Amino acid sequence: MSAVLPLEGQVAVVTGATGGIGRVIARELARGGAHVVTVTRTASGPGAFEAVTGDLGTRAGIAAVSRAILDRHEAVHLLVNNAGAHFTDHRLSNDGLELHVAVDYLGAYGLTVQLRPALVRGRARVANVASDTMRDARMITAIGRARPATLDLGGVTSLREINPQATFSPMMAYATAKLMTVTAANGFARDTAGVTVNSLHPGIVSTPIVDDLTPALLRPFRSLIHRGLLTADEGAAPTLRLATDPGLESVTGRYFVRDVETLAPPAAYDVETQDRLREVTDAFLAED
Ligand SMILES: NC(=O)c1ccc[n+]([C@@H]2O[C@H](COP(=O)([O-])OP(=O)(O)OC[C@H]3O[C@@H](n4cnc5c(N)ncnc54)[C@H](OP(=O)(O)O)[C@@H]3O)[C@@H](O)[C@H]2O)c1
Repeated sequence: MSAVLPLEGQVAVVTGATGGIGRVIARELARGGAHVVTVTRTASGPGAFEAVTGDLGTRAGIAAVSRAILDRHEAVHLLVNNAGAHFTDHRLSNDGLELHVAVDYLGAYGLTVQLRPALVRGRARVANVASDTMRDARMITAIGRARPATLDLGGVTSLREINPQATFSPMMAYATAKLMTVTAANGFARDTAGVTVNSLHPGIVSTPIVDDLTPALLRPFRSLIHRGLLTADEGAAPTLRLATDPGLESVTGRYFVRDVETLAPPAAYDVETQDRLREVTDAFLAED
């Protein structure tokens, strides 16, 4: 893996760094000289990075994590929203959000919003690890047409109404939450001068989340499937590029499939959808 550029003096926040892609991203940013702050759900012993503990799937967790980072750091220069999860059944967070919305969306966008003052001071680059399932949420893609995620917020008054049980399909729920992340990020990019925000699909990478996404029928072939996938080092490389490549310094509001710039589904660029989503999200974050 090529070393990232010198990042001395930069504070880099990386979520989901307990394993998989996130652990490599944190390691490589530290190798480039950044002061890395990892956000993890469970506290572990002293490690190589400054650690902040909190569950990004809850509003209280997001608030506690942001507060801890803002208390310790005047400026944040890099934020990698990498934490994510996939759930095969319809579950609600403590706050009543469908769990993909809670973890894959609010855990990323909520943290971005609440770190905003430090991001502005750091003229930060924000990278969101999304997923190309938003452009095609089919489990098996060999037959038929792509099923992109959509985001119709007409009549939606609360984040709690997104991904309802009645129409729940796990892959589409995950894809919708990732599309929400990209959509809100694009809105944030639009009105936050000095901060760039981009999103990407890391490729299909051999990490535990792939097991959660694999249909039960194929699980006996787990080790065979993993052998054909990208390694965590390969999966981390496009995020490291997006977060640190000087050639992308002023690029913002874009979506990449690995290193190739691609269009996300139309909702991601629709200003009305961005604004409405951010409005209901702000309202949710402000609830007591
Ligand atoms: N692997 C792929 O093929 C693939 C493809 C497309 C997109 N992605 C995206 O890539 C990102 C990284 O995933 P990965 O493949 O490296 O999977 P992974 O190894 O399962 O890592 C997921 C990370 O997210 C953390 N996390 C999950 N829920 C959390 C919560 N509520 N609060 C805080 N942290 C939480 C996990 O921490 P714990 O240790 O506490 O669980 C873990 O560190 C995810 O956003 C995923 O959606 C992956």
